[in-house]
Amino acid sequence: MAILVTGGAGFIGSHTCVELQQAGYDVVVYDNLSNASEKSLERVEAITGKPVKFYKGDILDRDRLNEVFEKEQLDSCIHFAGLKAVGESVVKPWEYYENNIAGTLTLVDVMRKHNCKNIIFSSSATVYGDPAEIPITENCPKGQCTNPYGWTKSMLEQILSDMQKADPEWNVVLLRYFNPIGAHPSGTMGENPNGIPNNLMPYITQVAVGKLPELGVFGNDYDTPDGTGVRDYIHVVDLAKGHVKALKKIEENAGLKIYNLGTGVGYSVLDIVKNFEEANDIKIPYSIKPRRAGDIATCYSDATKAKEELGWTAEYGIKEMCADSWRWQKNNPNGYDD
Ligand code: NAD
Ligand code: UFG
Repeated sequence: MAILVTGGAGFIGSHTCVELQQAGYDVVVYDNLSNASEKSLERVEAITGKPVKFYKGDILDRDRLNEVFEKEQLDSCIHFAGLKAVGESVVKPWEYYENNIAGTLTLVDVMRKHNCKNIIFSSSATVYGDPAEIPITENCPKGQCTNPYGWTKSMLEQILSDMQKADPEWNVVLLRYFNPIGAHPSGTMGENPNGIPNNLMPYITQVAVGKLPELGVFGNDYDTPDGTGVRDYIHVVDLAKGHVKALKKIEENAGLKIYNLGTGVGYSVLDIVKNFEEANDIKIPYSIKPRRAGDIATCYSDATKAKEELGWTAEYGIKEMCADSWRWQKNNPNGYDD
């Protein structure tokens, strides 16, 4: 039996394939390569020494999905496939709702028709909106999302929960990621954003490599210790390992489970700049810019539940996250195009 990894050629998916193979699982990747390169899978194979079975396909393509389920023995799916650019989702809401929601509905329908009723879903801390409590536990009420991308996550959580309630043969694990950064310590795999990065760490590494002149810090007047936004940054390898633990939970017939995957520690934008400079001995020029629409002041997790129920805790610290992000960028200035 194998694990279907939708979106497995992407940033978090490819790192998860490494951890799955190293834990002894067979993986089948399904990805339309709309935001990824197949080269990431060659890098997975180079690290693990095992072949990765790959099908190019779209989660909206029912026939292609059926074909994969007919050819492969699949007992669980880790579902990463989706569009994830917050700003783009405001401009193209229909495309986000269709790809993420219609795509997931098609996927789970094909899954149930092949009697594969185990799914781990990539959700996000964004479902908490402006969180009602800090640190954020899983009991914190979901909030108002500020963009269509966030709503797709929130709605898909609801859809998958309702399906599990109606048919308890389903095991559904919703993983709410905080801010994934870092890269594989080998320096051969990492995040490969298209165009100018929206997220903090890829922006910093592109300043460090000389592609961008300086970092804009979006606001220094938040109610935080230094006025800049505070987030819970988590190393992508730790995040990937969380999926292996979630799979073990599924194997125990978990029913419906929800976990935050974060470190439980908040760092401000200026903390990240300082840690990056210290870890890598590189100066990051920056200037203060106006606040970015839709941003909140503070967002970090209480990660106790994943520790108690999954036996999972993030192990990498912020310096390692900064060093690994930089190693990837320095060795691959143009990502997988190098
Ligand atoms: P990514 O863009 O690197 O990976 C997503 C993958 O899905 C890509 O390889 C893309 O080609 C593929 N894909 C997109 N639409 C598809 C479709 N219709 N059919 C088949 N494949 C499709 O993003 P990532 O950072 O690895 O994120 C993985 C998942 O985690 C996403 O669902 C994302 O929303 C979620 N997430 C990411 C973050 C983050 O900050 N990176 C935070 C919270 C949640
Ligand atoms: N920031 C800057 N300058 C930049 C980019 C970001 O100052 O050029 C700041 C932001 O204002 C924020 C912090 O850095 O305070 C982190 O911003 P990111 O864009 O890296 O991440 P977000 O917290 O905004 O959102 C990310 C993903 C979402 C996901 C969320 C989960 O983009 O998809 O983490 O917490 F839902």
